[in-house]
Amino acid sequence: MSIKFSPAFEGLEEESAIRRAEVKFKDRNDGVIPINVSSGNVKLPLHPDMQERVDDLGNTFKGGIPYSPTEGLEETQQAYRNLASLLGYNGKSPLFALPTNGAQEVMQLAILGLCSQDRPFLIIEPAYTNYLGIANLFDKPVITLRRDLNNDGRYTEPPIDVLEKIIEVNRPGLFVVVSPDNPSGKELSIETLINYAKLCVKYNVPMLKDGAYFGLTRDAPTRNGLVTPTLLAVTDNDVDGIEGLEMIAMSGSKMFNIPGLRAGALLTSNEEIYKRFKAAYSTLALCANVFGQHVMGALAHWDKEKITSWLRHQQRYYTPLMDKMIKDFKDIMPGIIVSEADGGIYMVVDVRNLVPKIDGQAIFSSNEFANYASAEGTVKIGGSKYTLLFTPMEEYFSAKPAQNPGSTQVRIALVETPPKLDLVPQVFSNLFYKFMSLQYSQHPSK
Ligand SMILES: Cc1ncc(COP(=O)(O)O)c(C=O)c1O
Repeated sequence: MSIKFSPAFEGLEEESAIRRAEVKFKDRNDGVIPINVSSGNVKLPLHPDMQERVDDLGNTFKGGIPYSPTEGLEETQQAYRNLASLLGYNGKSPLFALPTNGAQEVMQLAILGLCSQDRPFLIIEPAYTNYLGIANLFDKPVITLRRDLNNDGRYTEPPIDVLEKIIEVNRPGLFVVVSPDNPSGKELSIETLINYAKLCVKYNVPMLKDGAYFGLTRDAPTRNGLVTPTLLAVTDNDVDGIEGLEMIAMSGSKMFNIPGLRAGALLTSNEEIYKRFKAAYSTLALCANVFGQHVMGALAHWDKEKITSWLRHQQRYYTPLMDKMIKDFKDIMPGIIVSEADGGIYMVVDVRNLVPKIDGQAIFSSNEFANYASAEGTVKIGGSKYTLLFTPMEEYFSAKPAQNPGSTQVRIALVETPPKLDLVPQVFSNLFYKFMSLQYSQHPSK
């Protein structure tokens, strides 16, 4: 007997694009070593304060692991409020904090609670593919506007008048802004954010500020001596009325190297948003996991000095890795486009100048290339066999295949150890030319 699935699940056979490479690689037993840069699965040490709490979990929860109230442990709420203020939030209104299992759940609440058939979800492409996926699963309409990757590796900014037209015509229920962004690495300027905030106030559109990459900025802009995310810097002091319309999706995953702990929170100064999201969360999840809440609780006791030195430590790790990877890609594959990220932990690699075109349209599928690399690709280096697991970017855009910029783009996450990351451009290049010769029977004379 076949099961009749809901429309949301009917066509759902494969994992999200960021998870697919690992699944396709799983059944291989040909001795190939995977270099896995497909998802943002950071594997770096914790801050000692958090490590101490992890080491002590057995003692802390000796008597059992009870639920917390839906609103979360007091110390954890305080931790998220403190984190926002240490990162530079200085709004007029105090923030309510609702701990969740990661920022991803904040997005679920926001899309479920604020979008409907006549109030679509508005996001800038390329967009974190899971956010498009959540809107699809909840059957919410999506409207997008696009930033494009130029040949010099910089992303364009969507024109503000186009954004205004889109908002005026479509009246979105939610506008999501991610900065530093996944996957583009773009950190929005204060001026751009002020323009966005003015539009949200003018058209009464709630804005969700996604802080999954807060503090992971390459050039470490400082404001009041702090490593301050621009997203948190724009408040009622700049645009009167924005505070009541905004939510912050806070995440510990990348900022504190704890993606598997699933620790994040909704922060908002709007009591109505807080109350309704909390009520929905009590039905959907009961509460956030208490291990995660307890570990994040350490942040309730941090001061500016601690957060600044930790984020500088994170930046000092990622910045040279990213700089080296960009240079190596360009040296090894002349003509390739590599994004020059302002922050975050990703790079976008675009092969559009290296593939055949018909009527100006690149004939290439990043999905097929990623599947090939995961399921059968092999590159020999120094007696070992490697392949690369990466994320194809077609699903970061809503455009049809022929017009989809993601068909020549892939995302690479800087999450492997540095010796393995050093191999990425070479392995990518070899896989690319092998794939091309299989697909098109043409191999560049090198
Ligand atoms: C933009 C963005 N938001 C949220 C998340 C997920 O955050 P969390 O692990 O806190 O659910 C990610 C993960 O990669 C992300 O890229």
